[in-house]
Amino acid sequence: METQILSPTPAHLEQVAAHLRSGALVAIPTETVYGLAGHALDPQAVTQIFAAKERPKFDPLITHIAVPQPGSSVVAHIEQELALVDLSAFNPKQRRGLEDLLQSYWPGPLTVVLPRTDQIPDLVTSGLSTVALRMPSHPVAQQVLQIAQIPLAAPSANRFGRISPTSAAAVLSELQGRIAYILDGGECEIGLESTVIAIDPEQGISLLRPGAIALDQLQGMIPFPITSTAEIKGTPSAPGQLPSHYAPGKPFLMLPTSISQLSLADLQALWAGHPPFDRVGILLFSQASELRVSTLRAQLGIPIEQEILSPTGDLTEVARTLFAKLRRLDQGEADLLLTEPCPVETGLGYAIADRLRRATAKG
Ligand code: TXA
Ligand code: MG
Repeated sequence: METQILSPTPAHLEQVAAHLRSGALVAIPTETVYGLAGHALDPQAVTQIFAAKERPKFDPLITHIAVPQPGSSVVAHIEQELALVDLSAFNPKQRRGLEDLLQSYWPGPLTVVLPRTDQIPDLVTSGLSTVALRMPSHPVAQQVLQIAQIPLAAPSANRFGRISPTSAAAVLSELQGRIAYILDGGECEIGLESTVIAIDPEQGISLLRPGAIALDQLQGMIPFPITSTAEIKGTPSAPGQLPSHYAPGKPFLMLPTSISQLSLADLQALWAGHPPFDRVGILLFSQASELRVSTLRAQLGIPIEQEILSPTGDLTEVARTLFAKLRRLDQGEADLLLTEPCPVETGLGYAIADRLRRATAKG
């Protein structure tokens, strides 16, 4: 199969919407990362998603939905119109809280896991009693959803365990020959996958994956306690929260400190025990680290390629460029990759640190 990149013209939008309705797959842009979309209510389409990604069936998918009519209730939209969730266990106060939360953050980079109806194929949810829903804000994603008039299951458009794509070209390098179309919506604005929270009327809210919307932004918004973030810090209990994820093909190590504080001995201790390498690639959080890299290059006498995530160290820019720059190093000539640790571990920094921890988990 030849893979074509299509610009989002009205004719192409109609074409991909028809393709999706017929049960075939299309990679689409979202504000977070590109998604590999298929008809969420068609088990055969969903089977193809798992096959194209080489994704294990125990890892459930997010279902993407269109924006409802202006002024209407989001809860009514997902519960009655789309019949995707079963909120019978929510009391009126909790339903109002959920409505407020969804009105505030949808469309946008927040995925909410809720009790599901049996309209959703078991394959989408890996047999769980819940479904993950997201209303993307990217105009191209919304146009496709509006025209196709079906919910779309869409995991990130990368092969399983690898770096999420944030451009059409990156999707092509992941899935070339496996899908017919990639809809080109430019570079993703956020660059990290959505925040995933589960909401259970008894257990409250738990964070399953950090993202651009931080948990403390949700605090007090709904009459639910925020119960746990244990999945992120400790052993993986939620499906898909695997310790190694978003990983480049090459060995990838996290430096113990920022490079400006790193001694030669620290560096040599870090890479001792790794197979011999000729060239190093490094992710830097700001331009301020460049000078130290020049010194190391001279001291060590080996070539070091660098990618600066944000010249000024701005975390929004770091998030946006992280996956593309990591991919570039992975496709370049370095045979050992390194990253500085994220200098901030709160808010967006928490999500960036989480991705880097997983990407470097294999070593
Ligand atoms: O930003 C995003 O969310 C992107 C774009 C394309 O929308 N999608 C994405 O999908 O990142 P994926 O499949 O790569 O990640 C989905 C995450 C997984 O960690 C999965 O385990 C979790 O959502 N998930 C899905 N359904 C779930 C459920 N019922 N219970 C718990 N976790 C669930
Ligand atoms: Mg993914």
